[in-house]
Amino acid sequence: MARVLSGMRPTGQLHLGHLVGALANWKSLQDRYECFFMVADWHALMGEYERPQLIRQWSYENVIDWLAAGIDPKRSVIFRQSDVPEHAELFTLLAILTPLGWVERVPTYKEQLREIEGRDLATYGFLGYPVLQAADILLYKADAVPVGEDQLPHLELTREIVRRVHFLLKREIFPEPKSLLTEDSRLLGTDGRKMSKSYGNTINLSQDEQSLRETVQKMFTDPTRIKMTDPGHPDKCNVCGYWKTFAPSQAAAVWEECRTSKRGCAQNKRDLSGVVVEMTRPFREARAKLPSAQEKSRYAEIERILQDGKERAQAVARETMAEVKAAFGLS
Ligand code: TRP
Repeated sequence: MARVLSGMRPTGQLHLGHLVGALANWKSLQDRYECFFMVADWHALMGEYERPQLIRQWSYENVIDWLAAGIDPKRSVIFRQSDVPEHAELFTLLAILTPLGWVERVPTYKEQLREIEGRDLATYGFLGYPVLQAADILLYKADAVPVGEDQLPHLELTREIVRRVHFLLKREIFPEPKSLLTEDSRLLGTDGRKMSKSYGNTINLSQDEQSLRETVQKMFTDPTRIKMTDPGHPDKCNVCGYWKTFAPSQAAAVWEECRTSKRGCAQNKRDLSGVVVEMTRPFREARAKLPSAQEKSRYAEIERILQDGKERAQAVARETMAEVKAAFGLS
């Protein structure tokens, strides 16, 4: 079976965008691939090194959300990057032969340096972010990597590194991983901007039914539609966009009613909140069965899953490293 690897940085609570984007995709990939799902805690640290205390807790909380979303620790390997030091070892070897120009050119690097305020990302480590990501992928010889659009340049760099390794060491070691683009990764936040913790516009997976309803009912709608009798512009309305994602079979009718002023924004949001509540119900029910926040041992079971994942991941990682070291003349 072909192999998939993907990862998420544990930098906060997961939201609806993660559920309908990455997690739904990961869940279905389990049927077709041997899957490795990684908590990218070193990558998280690259941005959060000034306040690292929360990374471990976010790692546990994110894994709880993964499990509730249907990621099955029996079928898939769920592990934490920092538990498998081979990631750092392969990173070092890849860094040795990665030209500086390749990493300086990566658009995410330039963008983040420009856009992220309030932290200093001009570190040596951050420049190597995509090289560490390449190591994550290549250590497992992943054939495919599910990612959002923003990560495509990292995949391209990974493929370039593979070709360079093969050229320089005159040995074929890694498959060139292909990207499996996650659809819906662009679910917008409640205010119509990109859904992001830093904008305060997320709908979190840990919200209960009541607060979920309230959040959806506060969403921004088409700003040009003042009175209900004004015709709506569903293609420009975020709430109507949600209908397409969460209830595709009803979306056409809802859009038509909006356009012809038969449906007001308040009703539209009330109905949508019901749809979102139902759609996420299985997730909440599964989450409620997992150790609850009150339990002292909340994270013990998650830690057991991560330790099991560590062993299974490391078995593969060690095999790859033996091959890589031989190619580099180190054994
Ligand atoms: N950079 C990815 C992100 O921010 C997280 C990540 C780390 C990753 N290592 C990976 C994704 C390997 C896919 C494969 O979303």
